Amino acid sequence: MRKKIVAGNWKMNTTVQEGVSLAEAVAAKSAQTPENVGLIIATPFTHLACVAPVIKGSKVQLSAQNCADHTSGAYTGEVSVDMLKSVGCQWTILGHSERRQYYAETDEKLVVKTRLALEAGLGVILCVGENLEQREAGKHFDVVKEQIENVLFNFTAEDMKNIIVAYEPVWAIGTGKTATADQAEEIHACIRKVLAGKFGEQVAEDTTILYGGSCKPSNAHELFAQKDIDGGLIGGASLKADDFIAIAQAY
Ligand code: PGA
Repeated sequence: MRKKIVAGNWKMNTTVQEGVSLAEAVAAKSAQTPENVGLIIATPFTHLACVAPVIKGSKVQLSAQNCADHTSGAYTGEVSVDMLKSVGCQWTILGHSERRQYYAETDEKLVVKTRLALEAGLGVILCVGENLEQREAGKHFDVVKEQIENVLFNFTAEDMKNIIVAYEPVWAIGTGKTATADQAEEIHACIRKVLAGKFGEQVAEDTTILYGGSCKPSNAHELFAQKDIDGGLIGGASLKADDFIAIAQAY
């Protein structure tokens, strides 16, 4: 049975003090979420070391939002996978559309980052998704398939045990426009089929595929009711502990 996950992507929000309070609130309420739903919070780099002890002992796991594509050395401003591990991080998001769009994150770079993260023992939440232009041109299946192939086809079935896929249509991120449950489900089913073609049915069945893009308490239930949607990657709504927990309770 694949894991159900609700992950919060805090993006570049909150000071460390605000972040610690938010993490405390999430950890305190996490016991009110269904046992079979895992919770992850992806904080800014600066918050990780302070948030780790706050969520210890709760079901909440810790994630970064990115990592460097080198292991160490003269890469000013970068944060390595070993640094993330050393503060108690268990996951990193990779390939978020904001990083692809604003920081020239290419699929080639994502292969390197994914490899480094897995070798360091971090789980990876790999984001894929089409933009509005691609959706309107009817290319959404092709775009997502290509992103999956370009990155994940460089890995093994064994590696896939530590990889979560997050489908986030760019036009739905932070816009209030959620993909309909049907729109999301058809892409999720397609992603699972692509994974099955490469890694076999069992690996595809076992891979957690999250939906992200204006997911909130009011629409989470309908989205999560879909056969191939295994939870959410939550941006805006993860900044309020009550909303984040309510989304997890949508199961
Ligand atoms: P949103 O962001 O929930 O604010 O749309 C989702 C994400 O970018 O991960």
